[in-house]
Amino acid sequence: MPDFSLTEEQSSLREMARKFARTEMAPKAAECDRTPRFPEEVYRKAWELGLMNLNVPAEYGGSGLSALDQCLIVEELAYGCAGMTTSIIANCLALEPILLGGTEEQKRRFLPPFCAEYHLASFCLTEPAGGSDAGAISTRAKRHGDGYRLTGEKCFITNAPHASLYTVFATVDPELRHKGISAFVVPRSAPGVTPGKDEEKMGHRASSTSTVRFEEVEVPPSDRLGAEGDGFPIAMRTLDQTRTPIGALATGIAQAALDHAAAYSLKRHTFGKPISEHQAIQVKLADMATRVQASRLLTWSAAARIDRGEPGTLDSSIAKTFASDAAFAVADDAIQIHGGYGYMKEYPVEKLLRDAKLTQIYEGSNEIQRIVIARELLKRYA
Ligand code: CAA
Repeated sequence: MPDFSLTEEQSSLREMARKFARTEMAPKAAECDRTPRFPEEVYRKAWELGLMNLNVPAEYGGSGLSALDQCLIVEELAYGCAGMTTSIIANCLALEPILLGGTEEQKRRFLPPFCAEYHLASFCLTEPAGGSDAGAISTRAKRHGDGYRLTGEKCFITNAPHASLYTVFATVDPELRHKGISAFVVPRSAPGVTPGKDEEKMGHRASSTSTVRFEEVEVPPSDRLGAEGDGFPIAMRTLDQTRTPIGALATGIAQAALDHAAAYSLKRHTFGKPISEHQAIQVKLADMATRVQASRLLTWSAAARIDRGEPGTLDSSIAKTFASDAAFAVADDAIQIHGGYGYMKEYPVEKLLRDAKLTQIYEGSNEIQRIVIARELLKRYA
């Protein structure tokens, strides 16, 4: 049985993230959700505390944390506000292709500026037509001289209106599907780059999401990551890393829902006693606690595997799928325990359900995760 006790350093990281979430994020969560508002002051403070760029190694100025350390932090942040957490961790997603596919020169050029100053970056894979079928992207990378010209549109891009850098996946020929895709680093300042306006979302409303349009954007060969045609595996390997923290984010939402529901059940009276004394409520709380604990353990186990340098494809998809489905179910139960009050915006639990919903969709829908899980599983039986 693996030893899941935390080191002193991990406990203090977790404590620091918990304090930040409860003092800086949670008090603004309802207002940022309602307005909606992108609380840049919170993100700047998170950056100052080293809570952004968690995956960037110390040699490039980042926090250089293990996958497990990242999960500990992300769960705590999500307890405070899932939408803010999505914006805080978007740099990890956007910079991971550089870590995986970049040369030493590219890592030294692109990564330290994010650690020296507050900047945001966005991961640009999804397109309006392609959606889950990442091999079908149509953003073109036309060869031009030594370099490329990028033309196309990306959608659902986290932090896009605020980002100074984009990692962009584009194809030299859509007929080639996966084999035609390359990864590029594109500064926001490049002529022809236009982020769209903020989408009006159901949840994660403190985060910003928009399209990004690329119109004949010149990219030098020095800004392509890996060889031409390496883009698809770079995208997949990136998601293998980042889906585990999404499991942690979902666990944070679920823990918040459980805590709200349990506390409410102790003070709300019906039929002459606190509702916590009704077995119908106890059964719900027990199922909620079981789901939270299983989510956390699956997430930690996937992170530990990544930290051991083993392939993370299967475990990260399992952790993301289970924890996000669990978060939705736990938030739903939390509303049910609150009854009519749970449906009102005055109470925090309806936001948790809206926030949990996205974790079942982004970084690969849970239907896609199940395809990944089944394929990985069946390899063992072939
Ligand atoms: N690591 C390395 N290589 C991989 C890989 C992995 N995890 N997964 C696949 N590949 C390789 C395969 O080995 C194969 O290589 P060969 O051609 O050399 O054989 C190639 O990639 C094609 O693989 P598949 O045949 O499996 O591809 P597919 O088209 O059938 O399916 C998919 C792939 C898993 C469904 C993929 O399209 C996918 O993950 N889709 C979901 C995309 C996604 O997660 N989008 C979310 C974007 S991020 C986000 O949400 C934005 C945000 O800001 C929050």
